[in-house]
Amino acid sequence: MSLLIAALQLGVSFLALPVYVLNFLGLWDPICKRLFPFIMSKLAVDYNKKMQQHKRELFSNLGDFVGPSGRLTLLEIGCGTGANFQYYPRGCKVTCVDPNPHFQQFLSKSLKENDHVECERFLVTSGEEMAQVATGSVDVVVCTLVLCSVRSTEAVLREAKRVLRQGGAFYFMEHVTGDASSWIFFFQQIYDPTWSRLFDGCQLTRETWKDLEQAGFAELKLRHIMAPLTWNPVKPHILGYALK
Ligand SMILES: C[S@@+](CC[C@H](N)C(=O)[O-])C[C@H]1O[C@@H](n2cnc3c(N)ncnc32)[C@H](O)[C@@H]1O
Repeated sequence: MSLLIAALQLGVSFLALPVYVLNFLGLWDPICKRLFPFIMSKLAVDYNKKMQQHKRELFSNLGDFVGPSGRLTLLEIGCGTGANFQYYPRGCKVTCVDPNPHFQQFLSKSLKENDHVECERFLVTSGEEMAQVATGSVDVVVCTLVLCSVRSTEAVLREAKRVLRQGGAFYFMEHVTGDASSWIFFFQQIYDPTWSRLFDGCQLTRETWKDLEQAGFAELKLRHIMAPLTWNPVKPHILGYALK
């Protein structure tokens, strides 16, 4: 089986040969960093349409976590184009974190369209290294479609927990690996190396729920769903929130 998967991986890689050549020449990374925000600005609209109900449900109790300041302070890791702003409550103060500065123009557009939220600052850094954010300073941390791409899920969750105040919540919605006996998993393995190269390090076969279970949150509310998406490899999702 692994030989068949390796052969099929090679076939898929061949279809993306120009990208591999650009990568070999050291040119793909800068192109990808500029192209990816544009691609995400299109994909996120379609994703939000299909996941509308799940996102509305997930974020419906954000208001329960308003802290002593009287306004919800929220930090979004890997905020991308700001596709989640529309689900945040009025008056919410957002700290945006993303290592890719090329998202800024899309983020600004999203902020104009969602003037019920206030962006406090945009930090160009990774979720693994949020030293500029004070310990225990935010009510809520949000992370959607990000843990598939990070260098260390464990480090991101550790940082998320650190910046959260006691009683704060970490919200997540992530695509994950399919069941080991499923066709989805079979195809995820075939696409994975090329997919990751094309989509800025996104991996299809992460068991992210295990990292969440081991992150040491006081309580974890997590559901596995099959997302109503056209693209099979990203259908298996987890969503929910964890309390500090
Ligand atoms: C697929 S996009 C999702 C964007 C947005 N969260 C959404 O749901 O539409 C992945 C995002 O994660 C960001 N990202 C990648 N590695 C990261 C890291 N180590 N820490 C924080 N964000 C990261 C990317 O720059 C990108 O904005």
